[in-house]
Amino acid sequence: MSETWWRGAAIYQVYLRSFADGNGDGVGDLAGLRARLPYLSALGVNAIWLNPWYPSPLADGGYDVADYRDIDPVFGTLAEAEEFIAEAHGLNIRIIIDVVPNHSSTASAWFQEALRDPSVRDRFWFRDEPGEWQSIFGGPAWTQVPDGQWYLHLFDPGQPDLNWTNPEVHREFHDVLRFWYDRGVDGIRIDSAALLAKPDGLTGSYEDLDEVHDVYRSWRRITDEYDGRVLVGEVWLPDQERLARYLRSDELHTVFNFPFLACPWEPAGLRQVIEQTLATHAPLGAPPTWVLSNHDVARVVTRYGRADTSWDHADRRDGAPSDLELGYRRARAAALLAMALPGGVYIYQGEELGLPEVDDIPDELRQDPMWRRSNHTVKGRDGCRVPLPWSGDEPPFGFGTATPWLPQPDAWNKLTVEAQTADLGSMLNLYRDGLRIRAERLGDGTLTWLDLGPDVLAFTRESGLTCVVNLGADPVPLPAHGTVLLASGALDGDRLPSDTAAWLA
Ligand code: NOJ
Repeated sequence: MSETWWRGAAIYQVYLRSFADGNGDGVGDLAGLRARLPYLSALGVNAIWLNPWYPSPLADGGYDVADYRDIDPVFGTLAEAEEFIAEAHGLNIRIIIDVVPNHSSTASAWFQEALRDPSVRDRFWFRDEPGEWQSIFGGPAWTQVPDGQWYLHLFDPGQPDLNWTNPEVHREFHDVLRFWYDRGVDGIRIDSAALLAKPDGLTGSYEDLDEVHDVYRSWRRITDEYDGRVLVGEVWLPDQERLARYLRSDELHTVFNFPFLACPWEPAGLRQVIEQTLATHAPLGAPPTWVLSNHDVARVVTRYGRADTSWDHADRRDGAPSDLELGYRRARAAALLAMALPGGVYIYQGEELGLPEVDDIPDELRQDPMWRRSNHTVKGRDGCRVPLPWSGDEPPFGFGTATPWLPQPDAWNKLTVEAQTADLGSMLNLYRDGLRIRAERLGDGTLTWLDLGPDVLAFTRESGLTCVVNLGADPVPLPAHGTVLLASGALDGDRLPSDTAAWLA
């Protein structure tokens, strides 16, 4: 693959704790992932993005990093991580890791040192009085330490914010980037990328301040010292002009397309988001990305079956009723849409199995700090993080040998990789076929819209492949074509039924 492999890549997101358990302790790990690399290779992905794999007390599922240069023993060792990177490369799969620069962990050496010695507190935000900000997970964003001072944490109290006015923090992360690039990592996903800089006085808005761009310019310089590496920003900014600033040629290569993820399943809205995305990216020469889900949002099948199919962090609607059959049909169509659009595509583990959100995790087993910090009013993100079903008729469905860290629904016996491999019409086979065709005919480039009426999204790609998605209630005639390469559901003669997508040539 080329130095710019990331421009059109299909990137599979591995939530390691829930992917596959190789050592029988109920938690996914590197041994489990390495054993399943052939599965990902056969699926046809070009890269894997792993959520944080570092030592962590798990105040926020690993986004509280105690040591940026090591692997949590629950996942394996640094040596295993290096072997894993080499094995993935042997299968032509690139590796993107998660770096968390906005905050670290109360268990980090720096924070422990700061607790002991107030003269080194300047790596964080310590104050004599708490400020007014609220934590993004609920409750105050300030926590008191035994000697009376308070520290800032935009997220959980276990995640103290780093002070990016301190040059030592910059040097530390430069070193962390080199540490992983030197070990063969192909890219960095930057967590909470727009939050690093804080306003003077620590009051007012902390989102997207100008100073963050200096951070990414220096990261880009380091990244460019290596061949074929990519910086991916987690930037939740609806304002496209602000978002575009992260994609300038001396900053990040790509950002996640959250407006696409958040958009309701509705033709005018989706058309607008797609056009806006293309218009934002084209002048910068940056490839768009297409994201339907990740470890922070409700599973696609469940979301698209709800009365309100949009996504909003501030109103998660956990447990809202969902017509899963309808959601499943739409999720299949959405998969073909996302895979056909120009640029890269992200697939969150389990998306290719059509897993629904697990809404009925017993409260006492919930792990997400959102649940605790909201005084048990927001259920949070555990429902999209349930361990994958691989095979067999009952839990743990081949995930491992022990009881998984979050319980799997019994009904997942129909959704295992084993069951879906045998079923030609399964979601898994749709993704396999879609990614195979995508590798030959889609990915990086541009599109030309076709007008097939207000309910239909239709466009042609450079290869001649036409993608048609019917978001209306009634079947629509397909445009003239030679063959149907792939369809998300059965066609009605030469008509495309409601909530169905087809790829034509
Ligand atoms: C975004 C991550 O995706 C999420 O899982 C995490 O809780 C926050 N950043 C804080 O690190």
